[in-house]
Amino acid sequence: MIVSPSLLASDFSDLRGEVARMEKAGADWLHIDVMDGHFVPNLTLGAPVIRCLRGKTSLVFDVHLMISDPLRYIDDFADAGADIITFHLESESDCIKTIQKIKSRGLKAGLSIKPKTGEEKLRPFLPLVDMALIMTVEPGFGGQSFMADMLPKVSAVRDDCRQMGKNILIQVDGGITDQTAPLAAKAGANVLVAGSYVFGARDAAQAVNALKAAGR
Ligand code: DX5
Ligand code: ZN
Repeated sequence: MIVSPSLLASDFSDLRGEVARMEKAGADWLHIDVMDGHFVPNLTLGAPVIRCLRGKTSLVFDVHLMISDPLRYIDDFADAGADIITFHLESESDCIKTIQKIKSRGLKAGLSIKPKTGEEKLRPFLPLVDMALIMTVEPGFGGQSFMADMLPKVSAVRDDCRQMGKNILIQVDGGITDQTAPLAAKAGANVLVAGSYVFGARDAAQAVNALKAAGR
């Protein structure tokens, strides 16, 4: 199980310290939520912040773009030091062109669907991507409740991959805790994003370990 704490729940006045805290806690990746106030009704951070953090940690940068035109910004995020770029199928960019652009920069490509988007929409792109992200909350804000009705979508993507003989990463994002992580793992998720659960824990290492245990 790969654990990717979401920076959105961190203390933004001390990003460097927060990233170090996650590294020490045993996180595998760092999930970085980019929002443009248009694709989702919230604004967060962009490539300049990622660039500043890149030299401060060896954590894998798992960048989640919740923006309307991801294709236009792939070079910026690649230059800033992203390792994985995930964008939304519901965005305005051409999915195939965007995946190809991410790959042309030598990065891993992820494709995400919002809760109201059916899993079958992802299917044609599964052979092309490294990761599928099934949102388990409506994107835009941290601290929301896990939508258990997204679990069948996770299982369906896992089945599709099996049928295709392709072992891609399946990520879930939103409302992940020690209670919901085992459900997601059982459905077939192997990357867990968690914001408030990990950053808000008194002992971040214990929280990361509890999530890792969900996969065992
Ligand atoms: C929501 C973001 C999530 C968010 C998760 O749009 O994509 O990554 O930070 O936060 P929690 O884990 O608190 O639901
Ligand atoms: Zn996210």
